[in-house]
Amino acid sequence: MPATGESLELIREVLPMSILIVDDEQTIRDTCAEVAEQCGMKATGVSTAEEALEILEHSAVDIVLTDLKLPQTNGVQLLKQVHDQHPQVTVVVLTQYGTIESALEVTRMGAFDYVTKPFRIEELRSRLERVARAVELQQENRLLREQLRTRPGFGGLIGVSMKMQRVYKMIEKVGQHEYPVLILGESGTGKELVAKSIHFSGPRKDRPFAPVDCSALVPTLIESELFGYVKGAFTGAMQAKQGLLEAAKGGTLFLDEIGDMPVDLQAKLLRALQEREVKPVGSTERRQINVRIIAATNRDLDSAIRAGTFRQDLYFRLNVVQVKLPPLRDRKSDIPILVTAFLEKFSESHGSVRTISDDAMRRLIAYDWPGNVRELENAIERAVALGSGPIVHVGDLPSNLQYSASERVPEKDEILPLEELERRAILRTLRETGGDKLSAPRMLGIGKTTLYRKLKQYHVEHAEA
Ligand SMILES: Nc1ncnc2c1ncn2[C@@H]1O[C@H](COP(=O)(O)OP(=O)(O)OP(=O)(O)O)[C@@H](O)[C@H]1O
Ligand SMILES: [Mg+2]
Repeated sequence: MPATGESLELIREVLPMSILIVDDEQTIRDTCAEVAEQCGMKATGVSTAEEALEILEHSAVDIVLTDLKLPQTNGVQLLKQVHDQHPQVTVVVLTQYGTIESALEVTRMGAFDYVTKPFRIEELRSRLERVARAVELQQENRLLREQLRTRPGFGGLIGVSMKMQRVYKMIEKVGQHEYPVLILGESGTGKELVAKSIHFSGPRKDRPFAPVDCSALVPTLIESELFGYVKGAFTGAMQAKQGLLEAAKGGTLFLDEIGDMPVDLQAKLLRALQEREVKPVGSTERRQINVRIIAATNRDLDSAIRAGTFRQDLYFRLNVVQVKLPPLRDRKSDIPILVTAFLEKFSESHGSVRTISDDAMRRLIAYDWPGNVRELENAIERAVALGSGPIVHVGDLPSNLQYSASERVPEKDEILPLEELERRAILRTLRETGGDKLSAPRMLGIGKTTLYRKLKQYHVEHAEA
């Protein structure tokens, strides 16, 4: 298993430290970007605080270098928002000479350091290098601390990224209460695991956790599963059966894939939840229920509501607290620890724990995991089963990963078909930007739609990168 420092190094190699430069003057942005790139960083420049916040929302940024005077929202307000919403981001302030009296003043604003304009290139470089070192240390410490803190607990959830830390905090908080929780996230992001963690960390933990898959069964079956039926309610109902709403008494009912529940059943479910009563199929008798509801879906419920396939009133009922699970590609720093845990898990039957080569780990970090943690878990299971010897190598990984991170380097002056050159340029840019939807097409000088079309054309599987 790579030690913490090493895994951070591997992540850095695939995903360089990223800096967001916010200044309304193009020349300043360009100069800063050039210097940052010389320091080995990936630089993005924007001219307003609004654009900066938008990028911070969607991509991993380590450092923000911002001017204090900006056209709309000014730099001080931006600083405050970054501090509140993205506390892991380190901010460096750019100011006109004379605006800042002392370093203490910027620290008080929540910034790490400042650079006064006009600056000399050398000075900026040494400042950025200093910040980069501090950020690296911080991240390493955080990783260590959080690895220690988060290994156990939370029903088997693994992950040390800030994004997962937020999820853990939410689980801790909502676990203690009774209100409904709606868990959103792409397939394989751990929705069921989170639902269990909420249940098992709260006061209902000694009562049942009852999952119902609202997508797998035919509608009449979901209905009898949820509400139960009396003997003779329909052909084949030889005996009365208690529905899960009633049977999970005192516990939690997990409505998985709630977005797939047929609309008429949604109405019935809503009534049961509002009245805290169920009427089993074929019965006139109402029975009291006492369950906590946790629902999950990978669908976009807002558009389902607009399309009329999901009832808004049920949505309001379920969406008291929302837990959004980040896709794995947005928390790549969790990949090493997940890989290590899965290696341990699947190596058990082989007697000794396998480790993984640095090169293989690099591919795993570079890949975008459209199937999220489930896909990663399957990849490791397969690698352990197929591989021999104590180390998992690149050759043991699924074939789409084997060719993802490093292509055969062309011989010097080797002539390649244009199409191949283009394909390589696209793959390389995606890797270097960590699949960033904004900067990859920008770096390639093409539009987003063109990029998507080309990904399709070249059969790049993680087209949503
Ligand atoms: N943070 C995590 N730590 C460890 N294992 C995880 C994590 N997230 C997901 N997994 C594992 O990945 C697999 C998928 O998780 P889960 O079934 O909870 O996902 P899901 O979001 O419900 O997916 P789907 O929408 O496809 O049902 C499970 O084997 C689970 O144990
Ligand atoms: Mg699920």
